[in-house]
Amino acid sequence: MSQRNVVLGVTGSIAAYKAADLASRLTQAGLSVHTVMTENATKLVGPATFRALTGRPVATEMFDLTNPFSIEHVSLADLADVFVVAPATANVIAKLAHGIADDLLTCTALATRAPLLVAPAMHTAMWENPATQANVETLRTRGVRFVGPAVGRLASGGHGAGRMASVDDIADEIGAILGRNGDLAGRRILVTAGGTREAIDPVRFLGNPSSGKMGYAVAAAARDRGAAVTLVSGPTSLRRPAGVRVIDVVSADEMLEAVRSALPGQDVLVMAAAVADFAPKTTLSHKAKKGDAALKLDLRRTADILETVRAIPVKVKVGFAAETENLVENARDKLERKDLDFVVANDVGGTDCPFGSDENQAILVNADDATSTPRLSKRALADLVLDRVVTLLENA
Ligand code: CTP
Repeated sequence: MSQRNVVLGVTGSIAAYKAADLASRLTQAGLSVHTVMTENATKLVGPATFRALTGRPVATEMFDLTNPFSIEHVSLADLADVFVVAPATANVIAKLAHGIADDLLTCTALATRAPLLVAPAMHTAMWENPATQANVETLRTRGVRFVGPAVGRLASGGHGAGRMASVDDIADEIGAILGRNGDLAGRRILVTAGGTREAIDPVRFLGNPSSGKMGYAVAAAARDRGAAVTLVSGPTSLRRPAGVRVIDVVSADEMLEAVRSALPGQDVLVMAAAVADFAPKTTLSHKAKKGDAALKLDLRRTADILETVRAIPVKVKVGFAAETENLVENARDKLERKDLDFVVANDVGGTDCPFGSDENQAILVNADDATSTPRLSKRALADLVLDRVVTLLENA
């Protein structure tokens, strides 16, 4: 995302304080953030806050002769790779819908050719008002993207729709917009993530400690490189990535069915999920009482998903292998058995990057090569995996 310019329009909703967090997050991600504030917004949060967080001047006035931009709204409008209005009040949404440009923020919005992302924040009645809904519809039909509003507690004390979307969700949407022309643009990718759970009875299951973080990182990275992403997810505590189609599953059988139905037409399959190899032969419909005797579980083999969907044509297939010994050897065996282009092998025997860690160290194994990666954030490893996928797609 680095070297890209985000123009962040902040308007006079109480959620303006959260825009400071957004500005900080985007700046830390390497983006150049140029803040434009309405006069009302400056009454809620000082421009100095944004100036400090972004390291750049904050624009508030049309005719500020001390500002480095000559004709401010045109310069900012031209420079924007994406224009984000967060928070956006009902008033500013109405102005955007009708082309009213009576301050620096709305002038810049009218003058820009950059994609526009709007994060509404207002009282529920204002959001639900037919005037606001009609304005939102007008903007949507012109290609403006909206994120939120979320439902929850409002500054007015009430509860309902109108909270600004989370900073995470807004940052996700910005990533997706900036990645529209990335090296996976036009590609469809199916990612599986998390561990499956095999029910013993209504309150117990056989599972594994997979957090889902690696698969979610692959899904988010692919989205930010322009791919249309479907994520088949086992139960996890992770936030759903915005801009990704998520199919929730619980068991290995459900994951197989989800993959089988979503796979036709995909270009890439990345199987990062830790799928259970065994499930109880029968699931009790009532909670098993413990009694005194030892419990014996009769287990059956689950279907191997990759082997089962082998016949569905996909340009590139990537598997993961969690191993405690003979990493490369075991990965090579899976490469052939599961018809994969390469395997991302992890050593889960050591304690270096335990389950649930935000980092990972892996060996990328194909038929004639095994390359160790350094210890990386899961997101950085996801991008390395996708670099290989891109090369394979280009040669496919
Ligand atoms: N996998 C799958 N279906 C299963 C089990 C695993 O598609 N029932 C996929 C995983 O998502 C992963 C790859 O196969 O991409 C390797 O998973 P792993 O559990 O390491 O391999 P197994 O085939 O289960 O082999 P083993 O238990 O012998 O290590």
